[in-house]
Amino acid sequence: MNISVPRRVTAAAALAALALGGLTGTASAGSQAAVAAPDIPLANVKQHLADLQSIATANGGNRAHGRTGYKASIDFVKAKLDAAGYTTTLQTFTSSGATGYNLIADWPGGDPNQVLMAGSHLDSVTSGPGINDNGSGSAATLETALAVSRAQLQPTKHLRFGWWGAEELGLIGSKYYVNNLPASERSKISGYLNFDMIGSPNPGYFVYDDDPTIEQTFKDYYAGLGIPTEIETEGDGRSDHAPFKNAGIPVGGLFSGADYTKTAAQAQKWGGTSGQAFDRCYHSSCDTTANINDTALDRNADAIAYAIWNLSTGTTTPPTGTVFENTADVSVPDNGAAVTSTVNVTGVTGNAPSTLKVGVNIVHTYIGDLVVDLIAPDGSVYNLHNRSGGSADNINQTYTVNASSEVANGAWKLRVQDKASVDTGYVNSFKLTFP
Ligand code: TRP
Ligand code: ZN
Ligand code: CA
Repeated sequence: MNISVPRRVTAAAALAALALGGLTGTASAGSQAAVAAPDIPLANVKQHLADLQSIATANGGNRAHGRTGYKASIDFVKAKLDAAGYTTTLQTFTSSGATGYNLIADWPGGDPNQVLMAGSHLDSVTSGPGINDNGSGSAATLETALAVSRAQLQPTKHLRFGWWGAEELGLIGSKYYVNNLPASERSKISGYLNFDMIGSPNPGYFVYDDDPTIEQTFKDYYAGLGIPTEIETEGDGRSDHAPFKNAGIPVGGLFSGADYTKTAAQAQKWGGTSGQAFDRCYHSSCDTTANINDTALDRNADAIAYAIWNLSTGTTTPPTGTVFENTADVSVPDNGAAVTSTVNVTGVTGNAPSTLKVGVNIVHTYIGDLVVDLIAPDGSVYNLHNRSGGSADNINQTYTVNASSEVANGAWKLRVQDKASVDTGYVNSFKLTFP
């Protein structure tokens, strides 16, 4: 018997949620199959930084909230997005007696019930031009948005970009945006990615430790480059993802370091200078175009595009915690042929997650006899257990598998073979949990 119904969410609730989330055929019609993320041209990102520097220079040396350099920065970004086909909205608010501005840019199309957002604060402190903090995040986010337009990307999800005002006064702009979103709109935001300081001159490669899928996406990108990352610890809640997170929206982001000091171990793995701040010009007049590490900026800009492409296009997963399970017992013949237990995944658009949880429960008196594999619908094999553990009893364990190259829907099998005589057992249950 093959039982594989979503559990924890009831089957009916899961189907309703899937339909709401636009994971079924009709809602995703018009979106394209997953396509590889582009390389973001560093020269373009640097040109935006040069332009932001010129704006600061022409406006008293800064681009701070309430100063002319801020409004000029917003106008500059908005003009580029308008020309690229975005629907832009200027949102105004008041802080410290001055008018502040957020810029919101929507890329037409995608499922309005699943919005993927990326944002960066565009204001500087009054003491300098703010090129690393946060021209870097602003320029890389802008260039990624322009790359979406160049590719005429048709993602499954709706894409929205934001540039926040008055972050340096206490996350004022992003708080204003989140607080003024109707609850019905908030719940449609499936993720918010934040980029604040991503070209630090003595860089670290930090990933926010928040939503597991977003975090894993950035880690996958850096793993592909062979560059180690660390979890961001220089103050959780110190940038514009905090209001989103507080509203229950999954968040993530990248960071190359501010005024914390690079350790010897960090210099060992990333290069640069130990005993020195990641950004010695943090919040200073020397945060100019000279205060940028091109390699860090280049990698982080490409990582943004990688995340936007992968999280918005054809990788939609069902509601967090959806379980597909087969609880039928399958006996495993002693020193015999492989047997399988099957789980049918249905109603999921696109690929499986990079953190697919595979729950294996095998009752057996000698797990050193066993080889256990996960088989994807297309036949790809992921080994979970290979005769380790000696005479220990039973496997009752959850394995995390990067299944992001597999189409999610279809028959997933747990294959178990007993390769030595005497001890025997059976598969008690097999389940797949979506993160
Ligand atoms: N947001 C801070 C600023 O703009 C910089 C900063 C400090 C930061 N710690 C952080 C940004 C952690 C992101 C994550 O001045
Ligand atoms: Zn900042
Ligand atoms: Ca045996």
